[in-house]
Amino acid sequence: MEISKCKSYKDLSNLVADVVEHILALPEPKLILPTGSTPIGLYKELVNRQLDWSTTTTFNLDEYIINPNHPQSYHSFMKKHLFDRINIYPNNCNFPNRNTQAYEDIISEVDLCILGIGSNGHIAFNEPGSSFDSVTRVVDLTEETIKDNSRFFPTIEDVPTQAITMGLKSIMSSKKIIIMANGKHKKNILEQAMYGDITEDIPASILQTHTNMEAFYCD
Ligand code: F6R
Repeated sequence: MEISKCKSYKDLSNLVADVVEHILALPEPKLILPTGSTPIGLYKELVNRQLDWSTTTTFNLDEYIINPNHPQSYHSFMKKHLFDRINIYPNNCNFPNRNTQAYEDIISEVDLCILGIGSNGHIAFNEPGSSFDSVTRVVDLTEETIKDNSRFFPTIEDVPTQAITMGLKSIMSSKKIIIMANGKHKKNILEQAMYGDITEDIPASILQTHTNMEAFYCD
């Protein structure tokens, strides 16, 4: 397992965009997508490339328990940064909802899953201690994650305390996985996840057992 060190955030975004572009050439591509600050440059680059998304289906990794029309919902994030700016069919853009089994049932044969990593090693909203066998479910967010995400809300009290997330098992069923980390503050946790013990205390460490996984990092 090697972490590819990118020269810059632009470089990281371009390299991952190259992989997505390749996958979009498949007849009916299926992608799992993240939100957060890390993929914003990737989404910008994908929009600039004016690719054909008309046969693509996407699954978002997670969503707060929040009104989907709320400006800080992940629905709104994806519309703003990607979906409203490409030719994807809105019906092909899926988000986890309270019907978690139905979501689990439609996530299959995914060609590529793109992930960010939280400062505590979480992927999606699978916080430390999440079972490697976990599937889509409702979860309580940890204080650390609420604090990390408070930068997007007027006050910390406005940050939702629960979310629906794909599980670690759901993520691992993807044919290919990419994890992206941007910034020195992510270096240690990414290295621990990629080179350290495989433990439920660091959810991203499960990725070491995937046979088609790439990690990209920039300072
Ligand atoms: C969001 C998600 C999260 C983020 C992680 C890193 O859909 O899956 O696990 O990837 O919290 O967030 P940023 O990119 O904001 O550092």
